[in-house]
Amino acid sequence: MERGWLICIEGLDKSGKTTQSRLLVEALKSRGLDAVYTSEPSNGEIGKFIERYILKRRERLPVSIEALLFAADRIDHFEREIKPMLSEGKIVVSDRYVYSSLAYQGAAGLDINWIIEVNRMVPRPDLAIYLDVPLEVIMERIMKKRWRSVMETLETQSKVREIYMRLVRDGYLTPVNGNRPINEVSQDIQRIVFERLKLKV
Ligand code: TYD
Repeated sequence: MERGWLICIEGLDKSGKTTQSRLLVEALKSRGLDAVYTSEPSNGEIGKFIERYILKRRERLPVSIEALLFAADRIDHFEREIKPMLSEGKIVVSDRYVYSSLAYQGAAGLDINWIIEVNRMVPRPDLAIYLDVPLEVIMERIMKKRWRSVMETLETQSKVREIYMRLVRDGYLTPVNGNRPINEVSQDIQRIVFERLKLKV
């Protein structure tokens, strides 16, 4: 492979994205492919700032500030980590990417086209998967947590899900039923990824 491959895994909070992204990386590696896990918000300076300044506060900030900070973190993440790995031919699996901004900041009322515009400095992924888990299941998991972020409310999660479903309908995201045993979900994701990879190589 000359240029690598960028896959992103999207979904609501507690939908199992992290587990599934990591399992996908392991599956790719076990077939001898050079795969790496990464996530957003990134572990860079802007990502750490977002953690503190957006996610851990009690109330949400003006949503345009959120969108600009997430976009800045994404450019930083792409330039610092993703781009160099892609140029080495790696398969990069990102736990969240541009669609998280469309869904979460779009759900808070921001114009989707403006969010797309401020994210224009990073490329679209080669494949984007949406882990679909019913809202009731998500809320049950969220309610069990001791600490919840500003995003983890029924109102936000339900609007975010609507936008994700719209992105699925419009063909930007490939849906996977995430409401099943971990292994079954992982098998499904692997099938989709390997089918797409076959078309590429
Ligand atoms: P999440 O993947 O849930 O982090 P963790 O696994 O550490 O709990 O992401 C953190 C939150 O940030 C999540 O509620 C979604 C939100 N978010 C946005 O609102 N916009 C974005 O562009 C991104 C990347 C995340």
